[in-house]
Amino acid sequence: MEGVVDTAANLSLALASLKELAPTPEFVVLTGDLVNDGQPNQYDHLKKVLGSSLDSFIVVAGNHDDRAGLRALFPQLSAVGSGDDPIDYVIDAERDGRSLSLIVLDTTVPGEHAGALDATQLEWLDRQLAERRDREILIVQHHPPFRSGIGFMDAYGLRGAEAEAAIVAKYANVAAVISGHLHRPATAAWGGTVAFASPSTAAQVSPSFNGETTSYTDEPGMMSLHWWTKTGVASHVQPIGDSGRWVPAWAK
Ligand SMILES: [Fe+2]
Repeated sequence: MEGVVDTAANLSLALASLKELAPTPEFVVLTGDLVNDGQPNQYDHLKKVLGSSLDSFIVVAGNHDDRAGLRALFPQLSAVGSGDDPIDYVIDAERDGRSLSLIVLDTTVPGEHAGALDATQLEWLDRQLAERRDREILIVQHHPPFRSGIGFMDAYGLRGAEAEAAIVAKYANVAAVISGHLHRPATAAWGGTVAFASPSTAAQVSPSFNGETTSYTDEPGMMSLHWWTKTGVASHVQPIGDSGRWVPAWAK
């Protein structure tokens, strides 16, 4: 990234560290902006970084992505609409007696950095939720539905977020809404649930609340880990790489 951050190396490290977790994650969500310009050669590069388990990821489209490029790379997306159709889909899974659903929303608008959910998508979301009142739900999407206070990121926010909040608020079984895009971890009470913006495996934006111009920090690449239980989701932020471990004297 601009000669400052090795984004591919960071992503590889992040994926490798997931394999070291115990238990290993049930779901790995790529929250979008998987390449910079949506170009085929960039997806070829991404394919090399992600390795052989492409179909294991839950893939979310971001504003730097290209829908055709995503569908061509990830076999699980090849039948999720076509052409300009948004990549909206649902994963229903049974785990340990629990009925879990991840609803993936495509908030991208081709040619724009800001996001939007149109009336058709909002109706679709409402319908998916209405059909799953007895399931535990996570919604994943690229653009956070809340304003972060970081002006230059909020300028590329999500149109339709208020309408989305009104829909989500009707369903008490939505455990959280998890997004990317912000390049900084942030959490908000929103739509009767919790909305969380994931940090970036590449660079974090500076926490500028005074309207100053766009800048990034030298903070490490990060990822988020979500502990999803029947009582809700606890979201953690984890710097990428080996942070080391030590045991305090009182715990020995
Ligand atoms: Fe983005």
